[in-house]
Amino acid sequence: MSLHDIAARALHALDPEDAHGMAIRGLKLGLGPRQGEPSDPILAISLAGLALPSCVGLAAGFDKDAEVPDAMLAAGFGFVECGTVTPLPQAGNPRPRLFRLTEDQAVINRMGFNNKGLEAFAAGLTRRKGRPGIVGANIGANKEATDRIADYVTGLSRLWGLSDYFTANISSPNTPGLRALQTRAALEELLGRLAETRIGLKASSGRDYPIFLKVAPDLEDGEVEAIVETVVASGLDGIIVSNTTIARPESLASAQAGETGGLSGAPLLEPSTVVLKRFHAATAGRVALIGAGGIADGAGAYAKIRAGARAVQLYSALVYGGPGLVVRIKKDLAARLRADGFAGVEDAIGTA
Ligand code: FNR
Repeated sequence: MSLHDIAARALHALDPEDAHGMAIRGLKLGLGPRQGEPSDPILAISLAGLALPSCVGLAAGFDKDAEVPDAMLAAGFGFVECGTVTPLPQAGNPRPRLFRLTEDQAVINRMGFNNKGLEAFAAGLTRRKGRPGIVGANIGANKEATDRIADYVTGLSRLWGLSDYFTANISSPNTPGLRALQTRAALEELLGRLAETRIGLKASSGRDYPIFLKVAPDLEDGEVEAIVETVVASGLDGIIVSNTTIARPESLASAQAGETGGLSGAPLLEPSTVVLKRFHAATAGRVALIGAGGIADGAGAYAKIRAGARAVQLYSALVYGGPGLVVRIKKDLAARLRADGFAGVEDAIGTA
């Protein structure tokens, strides 16, 4: 076990949110782990024009204020998604709002988009401008916003030129009403306005960046197809499947399973991969899919790719596996690809 993994275990003695704050402070001080060698080339993939050195990324919510993207890239992630950021700073829900379900290797959170706002986030990205590594911005709406769609437009416009890609997050269960943006009419309006804004930004900057949509795993029949058609029609580049779930599988054994919020980690692997497969069938390769939910090892990452993902993201497993986890997952995933005779990630997509 590395010193970093020992430190990660020690953090478990603390309240989970305090532990997360300590981890961010440590990473800011340069105390994070460093991947010894570059990623195995078999893990490289092109995602909506982004050349990822590895398909294993950090999911949104870990670095909400874009404070430590380079430290997480150095730890071995092939790309890092910061946020969710809202235009105005926001305190989020009262604590406690983050719970470890240790017996279930899971997490429940009802953070509620606590973040320092768009200006602090932009400053974080400005500080790293010109450095290598793919860093994305996950954008959202303030709880009190009267025009939520306008908040997404504001985020996109402010961070254009600072972020390598964008994710419109409409799937957090912790901002009341947010997930209603997933219904057809609202989604058409949101994505229409983002597409229109993108055209203007592209014209004025001469640059274009991919835009992804991040969805919940809790979707009714027909919703998957409606989301896919709207995403394709508006020219978006991909879909992240998925955010946390409001469902509570019967298998949960932890005392805190009844806490309100979004469940992530191991119990989310199966249901989010099932939804990913539905998206794979509905997209038929028209837009890229990024798989998230419950990945804790190479097998989980591989299952997402075989279900249709070009790239994957994880967060909750870091709570239990420590920061050395990403290097282990990548080694394991590379070995699985080779064992099955694949020359690269691309060849394995959707082969399940
Ligand atoms: C998240 N997640 C998340 N997602 C997002 O789009 N914006 C956010 O601000 C957050 N915040 C957040 C906080 C915490 C504490 C957790 C555990 C998760 C969801 C995350 O990005 C991911 O989609 C899910 O957690 C599923 O992946 P894992 O965690 O099972 O690997």
